[in-house]
This record gives sequence, C-alpha cells and structure tokens, in this order.
Amino acid sequence: MDTPADLVRRLRESQACAALTGAGISQESGLRTFRDAQSGLWAQYRPEALASPEAFQRDPKTVWDWYAWRRQAVAGARPNAGHLALAAMSRLLPVFKLITQNVDGLHQMAGSPEVVELHGNIQRVRCADCGSIAPSWEEVTGEVPRCAICGGLLRPDVVWFGESLPREPLEAAVAAARACDLFFSIGTSGIVQPAASLAYAARNRGAVLVEVNAEPTPLTTKVDFALHGKAGEILPALVEAAWGSPISTGPAGQVEAGR
Ligand code: APR
Repeated sequence: MDTPADLVRRLRESQACAALTGAGISQESGLRTFRDAQSGLWAQYRPEALASPEAFQRDPKTVWDWYAWRRQAVAGARPNAGHLALAAMSRLLPVFKLITQNVDGLHQMAGSPEVVELHGNIQRVRCADCGSIAPSWEEVTGEVPRCAICGGLLRPDVVWFGESLPREPLEAAVAAARACDLFFSIGTSGIVQPAASLAYAARNRGAVLVEVNAEPTPLTTKVDFALHGKAGEILPALVEAAWGSPISTGPAGQVEAGR
C-alpha cells in the first residue's frame, strides 16, 4: 500500500495528533456500520424507531431488545489491525488523543488509553430516571430491567438522536481538535454533529487533515490527505512506514503490534 511520504514525515514529526473514528473502523471486526447502503443498520432499521428517547418512551422493550442484540454482536467482536495501529500510535507519538463515536469499546480492548467516547458505550447501562450506572442487571422475560436504586427503567448508556452529548467528553474532544497539528478522520461518514465539526475545528487552528475512509465524504474536499480504502489496511501501513513496526495478526487471527 502506497503511503504518501509527506504524510509519513508529518506523522513522525507530529507534536500533538488527534484522531476521530466512526463505525467504519469496526467494520473489519464484523460490526455493521450505520449508513453503508446495503449493510448499514439504518438501511434495515429506522433510527427514529430504535435510537431516540421518544422511541424508548413509546416502546422500551423493543428498544432494549435491539440494544441487547447489538451488545451481543459487540461481545463477540475483537479489535482489528486498524484499532491496533491507533493503539501503537498512542505509544509512538508524544501526544495522541483518540476520540470515537463508536460505542463498542474495541479501541480500549486494543490497548488505547484514555479513549474519548462521544456517544457512550453499549456495554454500560444506566437508569433512564436517576441516571445511575447499573453495575449489573437481571434480564426479566417480557420486561425491561429496572434500576436497583429508584426503580426506573434501565437503558443503554449511549447517546440517542436528539440527545446532547455528555459534556466532559465533548469538551475533551474539542480541546484535542484545537490543540493538534495533525488530525485524522477515520471510518466516519462525517455527517453526524457535533462530531463532524471536529475536523473543521482542527483545520481552523492550522492542523493538517487526513481522511481514512472506504469512500469519499463531505470532508474529502477539505483534507490534505485523502486515503480511501480499508482502515485495517491503511493505518497499519502508515504506522509501519513511519516507525518500521509492523502491525500483524497472530496464528489465531489475534492482532499484535510489532513492538
Ligand atoms: N474502513 C474505512 N472506512 C470504512 C470501512 C472500512 N473497513 N467500512 C466502511 N467504512 C466507511 C463508510 O464508507 C462510511 O463512510 O465508514 C463510514 C461509516 O459511516 P456511518 O455508518 O455513517 O457511521 P458513523 O460516521 O460512525 O456514524 C456516526 O451516527 O448513527 C449514528 O450514533 C451513531 O456514532 C454513530 C453516528
């Protein structure tokens, strides 16, 4: 895979790098994206019927079951070489801030420290009333489990359409975008706000922009480097070109860093 020499140089010289990831980076781990024409979740399900507070109000059981189904898919997934390459970058760069829209926790499983989760995490569950995180819960046939503290319905600790993002991760993401000299947009269609505006915040502060995505997005015409293809192929090639440490998969398909 051809990696632009100028990008390799900038990566090696970066003093503060930030990356935003979306569902595309987990596609090679077997998790479906949202907007891919055929395979995307929103091609099959209506987001307003499953991923909004109104939908939960109307039919909490259907929403709960749909997230339970997705949680199971996530539990069976493993990080791929793209996740590993970003974990390696956090060890190889003086400053590397990883921001994700994904709720699957695969970055953390790959060894990335301090991942900024903008949209929450599907493995966490909280009370829809008092907001307490439920350390554990019991599935009740035909019902949505309830909060042990206030008796309210439990819901996934993710951000639904129409809901605000949690303040701390959002502030950390904006600060990282404004402070970086190199910003990667990886595996995201770049249309969901406020995440989609982070690249522009970085560019407005003079950062070099890189897009790694299977197809062009609204951001493509604004970036300095547009690398179109699979993140699980492009990112390891970039890390290897910059630092000579290959990202490889072991005999059982598990992913390993060269260092
Ligand atoms: N490597 C790189 N890019 C990929 C790959 C891959 N292997 N497979 C798919 N892609 C690209 C697609 O071309 C698409 O542009 O990843 C992008 C995924 O876009 P979306 O499905 O829109 O996902 P995302 O941008 O993360 O969605 C943002 O929307 O539905 C909400 O809350 C949800 O966090 C999500 C947010």
